Amino acid sequence: MNEPLRLISGPLQIASSPVISVVVPTFNERDNVTRLYHKLKAALVGIAWEVVFVDDNSPDGTSDVVRGLAQHDGRVRSIRRLGRRGLSGACIEGILACSAPYAAVMDADLQHDESQLPKMLSLLQSGQADLVVGSRYIDGGSAASFDKRRASASAIATEIAKRVLGVSIADPMSGFFMIRRDRFEQIAPDLSTQGFKILLDIVATAQGKLKTVEIPYTFGARLHGESKLDSMVALDFLGLVLAKLTHDVVSLRFLLFAMVGGSGLFVHLGTLFVALKLFHLPFSVSQAAGAIVAMTSNFILNNFLTYRDQRLKGFAVVRGLLAFYLVCSVGLLANVGVAFSIYAQEPIWWLAGAAGALMGVVWNYAVSGLFVWRKR
Ligand code: GDD
Ligand code: MN
Repeated sequence: MNEPLRLISGPLQIASSPVISVVVPTFNERDNVTRLYHKLKAALVGIAWEVVFVDDNSPDGTSDVVRGLAQHDGRVRSIRRLGRRGLSGACIEGILACSAPYAAVMDADLQHDESQLPKMLSLLQSGQADLVVGSRYIDGGSAASFDKRRASASAIATEIAKRVLGVSIADPMSGFFMIRRDRFEQIAPDLSTQGFKILLDIVATAQGKLKTVEIPYTFGARLHGESKLDSMVALDFLGLVLAKLTHDVVSLRFLLFAMVGGSGLFVHLGTLFVALKLFHLPFSVSQAAGAIVAMTSNFILNNFLTYRDQRLKGFAVVRGLLAFYLVCSVGLLANVGVAFSIYAQEPIWWLAGAAGALMGVVWNYAVSGLFVWRKR
């Protein structure tokens, strides 16, 4: 007879499960994560904690360093996402991967003050708050490390968030907060994974239902590396405001896609003019040239703006462009088909034309999202 497998030798040890999970999104933070780990260890003495690094496959090998830490300390965990980028999405995924009753989010670059974590935790544990926000804009807090441009951008965004979305906290743009895991679970399905304003999204989505306390801290200087927030984050911010205002009916992506499509009309007409008047080409050839140039410029703009978080690079650009031509050609058929059938029933030229164009843009948007810039 087989011996029963002896899986356990010696006394069974069960590590106590953490009370707090610190979620740290990372992109190219190789030189910062070890320092942060040591700082957390020092700040959280006496508390059962874990840290979850959510890395978007950083080319600098951040996740190798994290794995090295994890081999020595089981409290360090690593999530590595392939083919995806985005601060908000990384935070959401990190928090949902935790089972601790409280989850904190902070930068990897030591700009956030880890020594505040025990205080944040006790505010949650005592029931005084469901959400504790590390705030730069209340008494005792500061963002002195910001340059002028960044400071005014942050102030404008904060003002818009307060007025337009009715958010009442002083620093909704903060990237440093701690939340009850069960409360987060409830709102997570309504959060946007795009962009980087996760806290603003949480507060706006909860619509005042989260007991929120702000505590002051000083936003420090980044240790190594550089900020991942470029000037395009203004677009992300706008997108989030728009989505929250319209209850997710209008997405920024669709709006950008439609705007790029509109620009294509001008490119088309310009090319048509040049081909006809300057090169004296036949109309059919000129029209075809206009269509091809317009599709190409639409593709480039969409790749740069609309899908900048999933931007195609290298050979994928060629493949994507060809797929985009194909998608748009079918879109044109759909456009003309719809316009014709409407016109046949109701001969109002602008109604038929607009309906056809709308059909075309919706088709192009939906299908190019599937086949050209599909998420891996
Ligand atoms: N996984 C992942 N994916 N992490 C990312 C990404 C991404 O696409 N982009 C940035 N991160 C990580 C960075 O590695 C860093 O740990 C953290 O997210 C914040 O990014 P920073 O590049 O350090 O942003 P910042 O310091 O300029 O901006 C901070 O302040 C803002 C308020 O002014 C952040 O805390 C923002 O969240 C905050 O809104
Ligand atoms: Mn930072």
